[in-house]
Amino acid sequence: MNIPNELIDTLLKAEKVAVLTGAGISAESGIATFRDPDGLWAKFNPAELASMDGFLKNPERVWQWYQYRRQVIDKAKPNPGHTALAAMQYIFKDFTLITQNVDRLHQSAGSTDVVELHGNIIDNHCSRCQKPFEEEINIEAEEIPRCTYCGGMIRPSVVWFGEMLPEDAIFKAEDAALECDVFLTVGTSAEVYPAAMLPVAAKRAGAFLVEINPDFTHVSGIANVCVHEASGVALPQIVRLLKEQKNL
Ligand code: OAD
Repeated sequence: MNIPNELIDTLLKAEKVAVLTGAGISAESGIATFRDPDGLWAKFNPAELASMDGFLKNPERVWQWYQYRRQVIDKAKPNPGHTALAAMQYIFKDFTLITQNVDRLHQSAGSTDVVELHGNIIDNHCSRCQKPFEEEINIEAEEIPRCTYCGGMIRPSVVWFGEMLPEDAIFKAEDAALECDVFLTVGTSAEVYPAAMLPVAAKRAGAFLVEINPDFTHVSGIANVCVHEASGVALPQIVRLLKEQKNL
């Protein structure tokens, strides 16, 4: 695989680097993406499974679908793409990792201060009073737990369609996109807003825009460099070349 020299040269000069990841980075850990031909949204309807309306119409089905996804994620391990991004936080002076993923595999690989735009699938809160639900969830259990304060149905703390993103996360992500020297978009179709506007905002603010994705996306046309390769292959190679050049 050929990593363009221009990419390594630009990264060697960069002080501030921001990365946006999507489901593709976890594909090599065995977690299905959403919009690929064999992705989750090819088999399931997002309006039914990832919205408050869908939850209220059929709470058991939605809860059980997230329990199934938790079982898959529980068995998954970070792959070399996650590990390479965890190493990057020590290579650059200022490094921000922004993810749309809810699987917490970046943190398992050692990344700290991950900006989670779409929440996470581990935590839960009440769908009625919004209070966090701290009790441990048995991921095999099919019955929906009830809120200890108000008796409301407990839901996973992921962001559903039609819901606001956590304010501090989107603010941090926007700041990083507007201030970085290099912005890498990795394993995302860049179809879901507001996350999808981050690469565009970064490029308009003057960043060198890099896409790592085996396929073409909306970002490919405006990226300075596209690496059409799996992230678990491309990212370790980039880290290896950077470490060699920096004598790390
Ligand atoms: P998508 O499923 O839309 O896109 C995944 C991208 O990963 C595609 O462009 C693939 O080409 C790419 N890909 C597949 N395998 C890869 C690999 N090994 N290495 C690198 N890239 C690979 O997933 P997202 O863009 O993350 O939202 O989707 C965004 C949001 O849509 C998700 O966070 C989720 C979903 O609905 C919520 O749950 C709120």
